[in-house]
Amino acid sequence: MSTPPIALVTGGIGGLGSAICRQLALDGARVIAADLPHRNDRLAAFRAEMAEFGEHADFTALDVTDFDACRRVAAEIEQRHGRIDILANVAGITRDASLRKMEKAQWDQLLAVNLDGIFHMSRAVIEGMLARGYGRIVNISSVNGQTGQFGQTNYSAAKAGVHGFTMALAREVAAKGITVNTVSPGYCQTEMVMAVPEPIRARIIAQIPVGRLGAPEDIGRAVAFLASERSGYITGANLPVNGGYFMSF
Ligand code: CAA
Repeated sequence: MSTPPIALVTGGIGGLGSAICRQLALDGARVIAADLPHRNDRLAAFRAEMAEFGEHADFTALDVTDFDACRRVAAEIEQRHGRIDILANVAGITRDASLRKMEKAQWDQLLAVNLDGIFHMSRAVIEGMLARGYGRIVNISSVNGQTGQFGQTNYSAAKAGVHGFTMALAREVAAKGITVNTVSPGYCQTEMVMAVPEPIRARIIAQIPVGRLGAPEDIGRAVAFLASERSGYITGANLPVNGGYFMSF
């Protein structure tokens, strides 16, 4: 690719999202972080972290639960930059509660962001990728989608669904130059994980063979690897980045 790839990262100014944006930019992409507006502190931090990339790092306001807004943002980027080469679906939330205490709103909100959002954004970019015969889609799942987690029936269901989506779409577009993969992070040093009560978090960390929480950069490097033009023979895969917390075939 002679011109820099154009990358769109949903949840792009969040804990993992900003590390993913940074790694993609370090690897030479022009990155557009799409995230909820009105998070001024986070946005200022993102702009500072990405300052060295100048006009190769941008922000656009987006709520991934809004199907029409996803289409609009994709169309605007394609209009401005000519294409979207890389989509990283990172936007995600937790609404932890055991099932007997879970409100319907906690289920609905979580599914709307973590699962519907991936459909909305992938649907918005796929036509352009098919027309150009090239694309890289990387969806963020979680170790808790692979193992289930106490208090996370909503999150584990959505995150398991993410990889089902990945595998189905990977088959649909494999012959068209587009790869679709999942990265399943373990427990990382993010606000989301730091919100887990300390005694529970300490018990989890004690079970991580590598002996520490993941760094957001660990996830950034995995996403950038799968988003690279050179990773064209990897599709429908689920790459665990969890410090050995969960191992399987
Ligand atoms: N495993 C087994 N039993 C547990 C438990 C656990 N993790 N947590 C609570 N229990 C037990 C309690 O000991 C208690 O037992 P008794 O009734 O016999 O006394 C009972 O379950 C309490 O059940 P409640 O429904 O009242 O649970 P709670 O309201 O006290 O806590 C919770 C539920 C808020 C979900 C709490 O368990 C929790 O915060 N868990 C952490 C969930 C977690 O790991 N979230 C990850 C967020 S980060 C993320 O998701 C990123 C990523 O991708 C990795």
